[in-house]
Amino acid sequence: MASNTTSFLFFLIIFVSTFPLQSLSWDRDSDYQKWVSWNVGNHQKKTSTNQKLKSGSPNGDWEALDKELRIAEKTKVKVTVRKDGSGDYRRIRDAIDSIPKNNTKRVVIEIGPGLYREKIVILRSKPFVMFLGDAENPPTITGNRTAGEMGKHGKQLKTYKSATVGINSDYFLAVNMKFENTAPMPAPGTIGGQAVALRISGNKAAFYNCSFYGAQDTLYDHKGLHYFNNCFIQGSMDFIFGYGRSFYENCHIHSIAQKQGSITAQKRTNASLESGFAFTKSVIEGSGTVYLGRAWGDHSRVIYSYTYMDKLVLPEGWNDWGITEREWTVYYGEYKCSGPGANSTGRVHWARQLTDEDAQPFLGSYFVDARHWLLPQKAF
Ligand SMILES: *[C@@H]1O[C@H](CO)[C@@H](O)[C@H](O)[C@H]1NC(C)=O
Ligand SMILES: *[C@@H]1O[C@H](CO)[C@@H](O)[C@H](O)[C@H]1NC(C)=O
Ligand SMILES: *[C@@H]1O[C@H](CO)[C@@H](O)[C@H](O)[C@H]1NC(C)=O
Ligand SMILES: *[C@@H]1O[C@H](CO)[C@@H](O)[C@H](O)[C@H]1NC(C)=O
Ligand SMILES: *[C@@H]1O[C@H](CO)[C@@H](O)[C@H](O)[C@H]1NC(C)=O
Repeated sequence: MASNTTSFLFFLIIFVSTFPLQSLSWDRDSDYQKWVSWNVGNHQKKTSTNQKLKSGSPNGDWEALDKELRIAEKTKVKVTVRKDGSGDYRRIRDAIDSIPKNNTKRVVIEIGPGLYREKIVILRSKPFVMFLGDAENPPTITGNRTAGEMGKHGKQLKTYKSATVGINSDYFLAVNMKFENTAPMPAPGTIGGQAVALRISGNKAAFYNCSFYGAQDTLYDHKGLHYFNNCFIQGSMDFIFGYGRSFYENCHIHSIAQKQGSITAQKRTNASLESGFAFTKSVIEGSGTVYLGRAWGDHSRVIYSYTYMDKLVLPEGWNDWGITEREWTVYYGEYKCSGPGANSTGRVHWARQLTDEDAQPFLGSYFVDARHWLLPQKAF
C-alpha cells in the first residue's frame, strides 16, 4: 500500500513537472481532475485484480456471471441420448437438432456410453449446449475426415471442416467426453493429412475430464475464451493450435510423434490481441521429440507453468516456423516447470524464463476472465 501511494505521488510529480505549462493553463482544472480520476481508477482496478489473484477462486460469485448465462442456468433442461434407444434420442445430432434457434436455456445433453460415429457442428444460434458423459464410461464421438479430402461440393474440406465435432456457439460445456479423429498420422512433409478431433470457435467454453485423440491438428483451439481442466490431449504435430485465449489446468499432453513434432501452434497475429495458451500444473510425455510450440502467428504466445516435461521436449524448446523475424515478437515463457525436458540450458535465446511478476497474468483462470462465465463445478 505504502509503495503504491509513493509511486502515485511520484508519477504525479513527474506529470506536473513535465507537462507544458501552457496546456495546463488550458482548462487546467478539468484536465487535472480527469487525470486524477483516471489514475485513481487505474489504481483501483489494479488493487482489485491483485485481490482476485490472491483469492484464486474464479467461481465463488454467482452475481459476477454474465446475465444471459445466469438466466440459462436457472432454466436448465435435459435430454438424453442412448445408443440402445432407451433415451430421448439415439444420435447426438438429433438431440442438437431438437434445440430451437436463439436458444436461451442451458440444454444438458446427457450421453450414454458407446462409440458415436457422427460428424457434429453446433451452429452459432445454439448457445448454452452441454455434453455430459458418464464419468465411469465416457462416450466417444469419432470420425476420420482429413483436410485434404473432398467435401460435398467438390472442394477440399480444409482443416476447419475436418473436425469430428465443431462448435460455433457460446457457453459450450463438455464433461466426461472423448473426441476423436482416427485418420492416419500423415507422413512428415505431406500435406492435407491434418485431421481435427474438436474445433472450438465459440466464446466462453469449458471442458472438464475430456479426452482429445488425433495426430496432426487434434484440438483446434480456434478463437474465444476457453478453459480446459483435467483433460487428455494426444497428437503428433501442432496438436493444440489456433488463436484462442485459453487456460489449460491439470492437463495431460501426450505426444505420439514418430520423429519430431510440436505441441502447440498458437496463432496470435497482432500484439494487441489478447490471445494465447497458458498451461499450468500439466504433464508432457510420450514418443518422439517435440517443441513446446511453433510460431504460427507473428505474436504467438504460449506459457507453461508448474508443468512436468519429460525428456521428449527438445532442448531448444521453441521453433520460429522458419521465420526469423518472429523471434522478436513471439512470447514464449516457462515458469517453475520440472522434469528433464524443462532444462533451460539449451533453450533458444528468445525463450523466456519468467519471473514471479511476469508469470502472474498466466497462472490462474483470470487469464480467460473466468469470473464472468466459468460455472462452479458443483453446478453440474
Ligand atoms: C434469431 O435471432 C436473430 C437475430 O436476433 C433473428 O434475426 C432471427 O429471426 C431469430 N430466429 C428465430 C428462429 O427466432
Ligand atoms: C473412415 O471411417 C469409415 C466409417 O465411418 C470407414 O468406412 C473408412 O474405412 C474409414 N477410413 C479410414 C481411412 O480409416
Ligand atoms: C473429473 O474427474 C475427477 C476424477 O478424476 C472427479 O473428481 C471430478 O469430479 C470430475 N469432474 C467433473 C466435473 O465431473
Ligand atoms: C492490430 O489490431 C488493432 C486492433 O484490432 C488494429 O487497430 C491494428 O491495426 C492491428 N495492427 C496490425 C499490425 O495489424
Ligand atoms: C541441463 O542440460 C545441460 C546441458 O545439456 C547439462 O549440462 C545440465 O547438467 C542439465 N541440468 C540438469 C539440472 O539436468
